[in-house]
Amino acid sequence: MQQSGAPPAPRLATCPRSLIAVPMTRFTVNDVPVHYRLPPETPLLWALRDASNLTGTKYGCGIGLCGACTVHVDGHAQRSCQIAIGAIEGSFVTTIEGLSKERDHPAQAAWIALQVPQCGYCQSGMIMATAALLKSNPSPSDDDIAAALTNLCRCGTYPRIRKAIARAIDAARSGVAIDADAAPGTSPAQAAEDTPALRP
Ligand code: FES
Ligand code: FES
Repeated sequence: MQQSGAPPAPRLATCPRSLIAVPMTRFTVNDVPVHYRLPPETPLLWALRDASNLTGTKYGCGIGLCGACTVHVDGHAQRSCQIAIGAIEGSFVTTIEGLSKERDHPAQAAWIALQVPQCGYCQSGMIMATAALLKSNPSPSDDDIAAALTNLCRCGTYPRIRKAIARAIDAARSGVAIDADAAPGTSPAQAAEDTPALRP
């Protein structure tokens, strides 16, 4: 029995599961405001891929080394596997899907024109890292490029990536768009012409 004058004992409310507060994180992805009902410690990579179906951002190492998961957070290249969504409340995130509407960002156009990818797995991260670099430094030196692009490519496309970055820099400087219309396919005859070893 409660003594008179003593404060009432606190009561523990039994809360139905549906009423348990679900953490919600809000930020903008590719210009669309999104509320994620996910634990705040969820890596941004998985929010993008699993909740937003933005699968252009890839999972490689999961420990911040390979760069396959690179996206822009407030304009800066970031490894999305290493960022908890709770840490970027209110931020602006851009993925490869949102880099340009017509795949005409100079980096994308250069990549297509020079047919950079082999398997392609690392390439969205490479392009996002390049796009962020060009935005912050339109005339990067070789050292600047090496410092900004620490992403890994298991297929060894680095020489083509270097050429594509140079092409993107030229295009961005000159304002002349790169003609990046991809060929619809290569006929065997054309392939033989293009590849001396295959000529009859
Ligand atoms: S998956 Fe994020 S750096 Fe490799
Ligand atoms: S193109 Fe295959 S990992 Fe880079």
